[in-house]
Amino acid sequence: MSFSILGTGSALPATIITNDDLSRIVDTSDEWIRSRTGIGQRRVCTTETITDLAYQAAVAALENSGCRAEELNLIICATMTADDATPSMACLLQQRLGAVCAAFDINAACTGFLYAMDIAAAYFSRKPDYKILIVGADAMSKAVDWQDRSTCVLFGDGAGAAVLGAGNDLLAIEIGANGNRSPLYAPAMAGNCPFRNDVKQSLYLVMDGQEVFRFAVTAMAQTIDRVLQKAGLAKESLTWILPHQANIRIIDAAIHRMKLPGEICLTNIEQYGNTSAACVAILLDESNRSGKFKKGDLLALTAFGGGLTTGACILRWNK
Ligand code: UT7
Repeated sequence: MSFSILGTGSALPATIITNDDLSRIVDTSDEWIRSRTGIGQRRVCTTETITDLAYQAAVAALENSGCRAEELNLIICATMTADDATPSMACLLQQRLGAVCAAFDINAACTGFLYAMDIAAAYFSRKPDYKILIVGADAMSKAVDWQDRSTCVLFGDGAGAAVLGAGNDLLAIEIGANGNRSPLYAPAMAGNCPFRNDVKQSLYLVMDGQEVFRFAVTAMAQTIDRVLQKAGLAKESLTWILPHQANIRIIDAAIHRMKLPGEICLTNIEQYGNTSAACVAILLDESNRSGKFKKGDLLALTAFGGGLTTGACILRWNK
């Protein structure tokens, strides 16, 4: 027993920030951003909180699934930018949805939605009749330094969600970590403890882009390969690949390395940039709603992110 996806949802902030908008804040250009990353614009929270977006995505996923919030047995939110350290985003959602169940957040940076799926799968092996809401939501606009052109142009804000129920459509999943702070970190609460005396840290996300790039291409190809092996499937049987949307060049290089046709690879990076834990979830929801998926399609989801973390799974679409 694994699970089936019963419904999906997503939500984005109303405000669109184009590359030209950014070129008025930092020394960059539409040409540089598009050619180096594939990003044309991103959404940024102005009046919305990330909990608001997570809530909207959750409501949409519940509607799409035909489940009521009261039927949920568990809520898992993947985020590294929750509005509060406590209560968790999941607890705030539980309250707003009117659900009566346990709720917790996990942080695996951009891989969070895959981690949430893996945790959910473990619950289903114990509780096959559960209904679980998983959410990937991040407001990276809170984490980046808007004066650092090497990072602020890459990210956007958004949320995606899925309601999972009894079924056998998760054919294989694998999550991993390669613990290392230096390629990508974003500091947590600094506090003002008068007894601490350590060196002042950056307040914002710091990234070695080239190191993450190299890691990402290998990780994407290897993780898909491993879940295919686990599921006993050939790569030719994949209908769609839904990769983490960090850089179109990472996606193209990994697809090329796997010798797969580019047409099966879904992207929305041009519109939203890298929404961290929300990327794969938003892509899943948009493809579901646009009617892209047919019953029986085989989907490979893959992500990588700070940690460094990795994750991939093979899902049979059964909706
Ligand atoms: O979810 C995981 C998160 N992160 C990632 O996946 C990021 C992975 N890495 C990447 O996507 C790419 O490494 C970046 C997009 C971050 C950078 O692309 P790159 O081709 O590796 O560029 P670079 O870092 O080698 O920089 C090339 C030049 C530098 O100038 P010089 O030293 O050659 O004069 C940078 O200062 O581009 C400059 N640069 C920019 N120029 C205009 C860096 N950022 C910008 C910018 N606009 N926004």
